[in-house]
Amino acid sequence: MARILTGIQSTNQPHLGNILGAIQPLIARSHSGGHEAFAFIADLHSLTTVRDADFRRESTLRVAATWLACGFDPDAHVLYRQSDLPEVTELTWYLSCFAPYPMLANAHSFKDKSERVSEVSAGLFTYPVLMAADILGYDAEVVPVGKDQLQHLEITRDLAKSFNHLYGETFVVPEASVAQETMIIPGTDGQKMSKSYHNFIDVFLEEKALKKVIMGIQTDSTPLEAPKNPDTCNVFNLYKVVAPSAEVEHLRQRYLAGGLGYGHAKTALLEAILVKFQDERQHYHALMQDIPQLQHTLKIGAEKARPVIQSVLQRVRTKLGF
Ligand code: ADP
Ligand code: TRP
Repeated sequence: MARILTGIQSTNQPHLGNILGAIQPLIARSHSGGHEAFAFIADLHSLTTVRDADFRRESTLRVAATWLACGFDPDAHVLYRQSDLPEVTELTWYLSCFAPYPMLANAHSFKDKSERVSEVSAGLFTYPVLMAADILGYDAEVVPVGKDQLQHLEITRDLAKSFNHLYGETFVVPEASVAQETMIIPGTDGQKMSKSYHNFIDVFLEEKALKKVIMGIQTDSTPLEAPKNPDTCNVFNLYKVVAPSAEVEHLRQRYLAGGLGYGHAKTALLEAILVKFQDERQHYHALMQDIPQLQHTLKIGAEKARPVIQSVLQRVRTKLGF
């Protein structure tokens, strides 16, 4: 049974990009049989950017509720909080002693993030090593991620291969899996949707607040009557990933014909989101009403994950002579 694993940082409420790019692909595979899915909330990673403890705790629960609301089955699979298994930090140390400095210094995400924050911490620098420990520590074979994480997966594979080369077979070398059709979901400003760019769509917002976010999507100033190019429009590019394909084609034709205002397109997008996520929205709010139950689910997940990372660590300690 192939083990698939992915993580979402608890830096805020998960958004449409996280749901389509990471959460749903993993859940779809977990339902397809022959797979064991490990989904976790990367709260240790979030410390590289979030310093507010209450905010992080709240975000952790929101990420957990999002996984469950989107259909993750915590009984058949494993849902856990990264920090409940501090073993991962021990593995991070071992791996960091094998991670070449230039490989980390040249990582795109480190370069991007270090340009945006005022203080660049060692944690930000070694972020990919903790991520490698998340993956290698649980013998994951397949890691579904967005395109932006591919380089981190390459780093993970390099670390696994070089360790195996030096000490003999120790780690499973994982494969990344990127969903083709959802590659990178654009945000309300057309850049990649991200919690850190404040351009994200939280599909669990109450309808009025969600409408406000959708109406704020940036568009150009083509007049209402004029034909419009759907492919360069943020609203259409978002509609494309949430609406059924027949309706996408219909809206495409209306763009090309002219006479469609961006306000109409935004209303269609709002409707499509409300329809697509109708059940998930209800389920999410019910989950967030019962925090003790949510905590309990995470505790059970950690208990299932623990023997896995402990046995990997034992292999590594033995090879390293500790
Ligand atoms: P963010 O950039 O919002 O902080 P995370 O870094 O927590 O998101 O990403 C969690 C997962 O969601 C990763 O697998 C990532 O690749 C995926 N993801 C994030 N943003 C997008 C997006 N805009 N489109 C597709 N997938 C995304
Ligand atoms: N770095 C990932 C992101 O920002 C989150 C993450 C942490 C992750 N550990 C992981 C994803 C392990 C997949 C596997 O999106």
